[in-house]
Amino acid sequence: MCGIIGYTGPLEASKILLEGLSGLEYRGYDSAGIALCMEDSQIRVVKKAGKVKNLEEYCRQQISGTAHSGIGHTRWATHGGVTDTNAHPHRAGKVVLIHNGIIENYHALTEKFHLEDKLLSQTDSEVAAQVLNCLYEGDPLAAIHKLIDLLDGSYSFCIMFEDQPGAVYAIRNVSPLVAASTPSGSLIASDLTALIPYSRQYFVVPEQHIVKLTPYKIHVYHLDDTYTKAYPEIMTVNWNMDAAMKNGFPHFMLKEIHEQPDALRNTILPRVNKGIPDFGEDGIPDSIFKECSQIQIIACGTAMYAGMVARAIMQPLLRIPVTVSIASEFRYEEPLIDEKSLVIIISQSGETIDTLAALRLAHRCGSTVLAVVNVKGSTIARESNYVLYTHAGPEIAVASTKAYSVQLAALYMICCRMALVRGKYTREQACSFLADLLDVIPAMETMIAQKEMIRDVASHIISSPDAFFIGRGLDYAFSLEGALKLKEISYIHSEAYAAGELKHGTIALISDQVPVIAIATQEHVYSKTISNIREVKARGAFVILLVKENAVVDDNLADIRIRIPDVDDHFTVFPIAAALQLIAYYASLGKHLDVDQPRNLAKSVTVE
Ligand code: AGP
Repeated sequence: MCGIIGYTGPLEASKILLEGLSGLEYRGYDSAGIALCMEDSQIRVVKKAGKVKNLEEYCRQQISGTAHSGIGHTRWATHGGVTDTNAHPHRAGKVVLIHNGIIENYHALTEKFHLEDKLLSQTDSEVAAQVLNCLYEGDPLAAIHKLIDLLDGSYSFCIMFEDQPGAVYAIRNVSPLVAASTPSGSLIASDLTALIPYSRQYFVVPEQHIVKLTPYKIHVYHLDDTYTKAYPEIMTVNWNMDAAMKNGFPHFMLKEIHEQPDALRNTILPRVNKGIPDFGEDGIPDSIFKECSQIQIIACGTAMYAGMVARAIMQPLLRIPVTVSIASEFRYEEPLIDEKSLVIIISQSGETIDTLAALRLAHRCGSTVLAVVNVKGSTIARESNYVLYTHAGPEIAVASTKAYSVQLAALYMICCRMALVRGKYTREQACSFLADLLDVIPAMETMIAQKEMIRDVASHIISSPDAFFIGRGLDYAFSLEGALKLKEISYIHSEAYAAGELKHGTIALISDQVPVIAIATQEHVYSKTISNIREVKARGAFVILLVKENAVVDDNLADIRIRIPDVDDHFTVFPIAAALQLIAYYASLGKHLDVDQPRNLAKSVTVE
């Protein structure tokens, strides 16, 4: 997703902007650009399709002189191809603007302001710049206010006006922005990775408020007639810059796979009280668990697959309906939730726009919303009734790994607490459940330690165009995430299937040496899964079998066997997740792909 950074202060702006854009690369992008307010107050715009490194080289060639304020942008294309012209910043008269989000009524605005012959790019963002320029009569606050009144859609803008040297303006609606006033100057950015080198104190830019950055002070204004001042809460970053660096690992993804045991400790242990889960410190009352008549889990991507695993654990134990919905679908389903429903929102970034929209719909239905979020102070966290923060630290790789594991841990603890308060678990059973959960940490460490074996396993599939993941029950829920991991970073077309469903059509795709990653860790359906594996083996599949270490397996059943440390069936997802993450990682590496920033993907999807 687009990255935004703005700066004004005593330092050289181009250096700060380019370094900031490098820190935002992980969000996913295809072009980059900066605008600088030069000493003669002229604004220079330099932008290029391609990586930030291309832009840095181009800046070295094109820019001479100094600048102490500017804005920078990495673009994840929504409207128009990947070209220099479509890159941001966009200039229109005295206005220079960068944008993250989607202006939904940009066609109507193009007609209303007769912009057809003025537009150089194919982007909605340039339309916003052109409209703002039409509205600008020397008062930035008034012009921005008029612009916002005309827009439909999501946006975070950073804006410079050529006759307002040294000032950077910003405003957001849904798309995230954080800001910090520091001894090095004032900064604003899409997320903390660009601010952390300068400050650990920051504030979240409130929606629909105009921000004005001056070198040593940031002003925040309500969008009212007199632009009264606002004073957002100052927050402190809960992680350090090292956490956002590779620290010797070749890729963020491999580092984050290795961080999972610590991430699980940091998420679970602070919430263990006398052997059972306790959310008192999180401000989450038992009443929301005790009184709800159903649970609705809503998320996207990996977070949604974590929800699928949670459902498989929760529903049989709690004996109430537990539904998992894709956020982008939920919004249009006219959902059957009400004030008796507990809605659990799962999001690593806390900024996924589809998930945020579903959260807002849940509020309109009168439901209680509990969010499981990794980024402190994120929009989803702030708009939920209750938040259970995971403590994985920043997840930089686009492919979610440690966030998935800690989401599961949080959901398992919620399940355990609910079972206890609803009388489905005795205290002893809750203690035993939590002990099993803590046992997954050494199990993950054991699995991760076998990464070279798994690297060899991955070498068998890197030339395959397709791969299938199969399992039954919880193993099927695990396989969904395994398929996503493999396809999103190795570009191998991977699909997960309920093992029993394969023969109802899809088995037609199984032929000689087609890789099938089969997961068989659930005792109660083990023999059935083995039968399904025999069915694909009989058709020539190359079978990679994940089974518990003490499982009895015929020698001729699988081509490769990965032994999973022996944990309770309900908890095998954790070592399995590590194994499947490593298979995906080494498959991508073996194909010499960009593991941390796969093509077309963004870390936080803040457009619909
Ligand atoms: C998974 O590896 C991807 N990063 C993606 O599916 C992600 O899980 C999804 O976009 C949801 O993001 P969120 O958890 O930040 O809301």
